[in-house]
Amino acid sequence: MQRILVLAALCGAVLQSGCASMTPAVRSPSSPGVSPSPTASPAGTAAASSTALPAYGWPDAFTLNQRIGRGVNFGDALEAPSEGEWGIVLQDEYFQKAKDAGFNTIRLPVRWYVHALESAPFTIFPSFFERVDWAVESGLSRGMVVILDFHHFLPFMDCPRCERERFLMLWAQIAEHYKAYPPDLVFELLNEPTDAVPASEWNEALASALAVVRESNPQRIVVVGPVGWNGLGGLPYLSLPESDRGLIVTFHYYEPFHFTHQGADWVDGSNAWLGTTWTGSAAEQQAVRKDFESVSAWGTAHGRPILLGEFGAYSKADMDSRARWTAAVARQAAELSFSWVYWEFCSGFGVYDPAAHRWRDPLLDELLPESPQRGK
Ligand code: BGC
Repeated sequence: MQRILVLAALCGAVLQSGCASMTPAVRSPSSPGVSPSPTASPAGTAAASSTALPAYGWPDAFTLNQRIGRGVNFGDALEAPSEGEWGIVLQDEYFQKAKDAGFNTIRLPVRWYVHALESAPFTIFPSFFERVDWAVESGLSRGMVVILDFHHFLPFMDCPRCERERFLMLWAQIAEHYKAYPPDLVFELLNEPTDAVPASEWNEALASALAVVRESNPQRIVVVGPVGWNGLGGLPYLSLPESDRGLIVTFHYYEPFHFTHQGADWVDGSNAWLGTTWTGSAAEQQAVRKDFESVSAWGTAHGRPILLGEFGAYSKADMDSRARWTAAVARQAAELSFSWVYWEFCSGFGVYDPAAHRWRDPLLDELLPESPQRGK
């Protein structure tokens, strides 16, 4: 009964902020047949160079959130069922491009559970750790913050209680593996717990995962977000361990969903939204402002820094609308002192065109107006 009430309340809250964002993001491979060509460095070699703490030592969550600043998601790569299956294989050049453009942070979505044993102790395959190490190192060695995100844990969304053990055992390994890495490596506990995950279950699971992480990483900054696909409507139901101040709270923003996800092949019915524009009218700007002010108020009330961990408009929308919307969202986030990480680098929402080896200037201009990479 209580579970039904929580869900009903949650859906009500999300309806206010746009229930469309609750649409299941079931994705089908966009470019099957592209195989990965990992360029991983041997385990331990690159990692060793990053173990020295930077001069500023362990930061508090607000300081680290400022360092996150403006970032970009390296999406559709390591969180695909296997890297390359969705058309993106990470390249060293991508990290350099992002750095040169002026991004401070890379968020690295990783689908851990498919690269591990299927039963306890759920050992993560060493070759996969090597690949992730390479990616983490590629960001850290360039002075960027890296958010290591636990993405697409699909079985958990179906049954969080059945998957609690696997969730904790995977985190125990990840935390142990990266415990000597510098503070600019940030952990994110779980991407987008869906609307099928009751808030009470998520609050319990996140507290348990945090306890596991704290055993090996007492001071590391950890990112955590609410149920309801990390939408802002889930924030009132998020309950965090009060005494743990090393947390940054994240939310994702794709409103209006019919605009940002028009024509997205993983969202049922989204072809009907093709042609939806975003003109930047006073009412449209005000809607974003109102949403963000509610997030900001939550952050102030709970004393937590806020990260806008994903936002973006899919490539099927017209570029002028995408650029206007991206500008409005990024500016309003910055005004409220949220750090932000654009979704994403070089796939369907991409700010960079990997085939042409150049930036999509209308998007880059709005994300990083002073970027020296314009036209490159
Ligand atoms: C999902 C992606 C999706 C994006 C926008 C992300 O959190 O993991 O698969 O493309 O949101 O819908």
